[in-house]
Amino acid sequence: MIESSYLRATRTGYDAIAVPYDETFRSELAESPFDRAMLAGFAELVAGRHPDGQLIEVGSGPGHVTAHLHGLGLSIRGVDLSAAMVDLARREHPEITFDVGQMGALDVPDGSLAGLVAWYSIIHIPPAHLPAVFAEFHRVLTDGGLLLVGFQVGDDVVHYDEAFGHQISLDFHRLQPSAVAALLDDAGFDLVVRQVRAPEPTSAATKIPQASLIACKRP
Ligand SMILES: C[S@@+](CC[C@H](N)C(=O)[O-])C[C@H]1O[C@@H](n2cnc3c(N)ncnc32)[C@H](O)[C@@H]1O
Repeated sequence: MIESSYLRATRTGYDAIAVPYDETFRSELAESPFDRAMLAGFAELVAGRHPDGQLIEVGSGPGHVTAHLHGLGLSIRGVDLSAAMVDLARREHPEITFDVGQMGALDVPDGSLAGLVAWYSIIHIPPAHLPAVFAEFHRVLTDGGLLLVGFQVGDDVVHYDEAFGHQISLDFHRLQPSAVAALLDDAGFDLVVRQVRAPEPTSAATKIPQASLIACKRP
């Protein structure tokens, strides 16, 4: 199969920067009480509605968020486009399964997951491709299955052709929470929670507003 150019650019970009990305962002959750609150709420919701359900984090990167949710008692594994990220996540979290994969074509049976997390990974999907990606999330979730997405808020595309001293070609698509909620509704999800955080000028990673949404697959 021919890989889309945006997937190839994302994969090679993250392969190049996996190690410094991990070093830079590994303590981010520890510094973000509202991210932890959203993840904790999501974990409690999934565990309450689907005890023993299986989850996937798509775009799991070095596995920080997967490991955090695993620590909250969820049966979760990670999937990422970048083999370098998957190697790193496996080394750092040997108790969790990480596989190379693509969020738009998951190797998972229909209706088999209680939850799916896309934490700052749909930011690399061109908006025109988001409906197909959300349709894939809908396919793999069971009825009443829960989806958590996190992303930076905005209307622009930020392009990096260099990061951590490596030449890359990575696009970061800012998104509007109302637009993402509308696409999720079109894909067959009901919105459960929407969190939008104001920019934090002191943090390098969160100088722009951040959003996270929890949605539930309509039966
Ligand atoms: C900004 S990082 C976020 C990593 C992790 N979720 C976290 O918050 O630490 C984005 C990750 O998404 C992965 N990714 C981007 N597009 C993807 C796709 N179509 N399928 C699977 N993974 C993807 C990248 O390889 C990268 O590891």
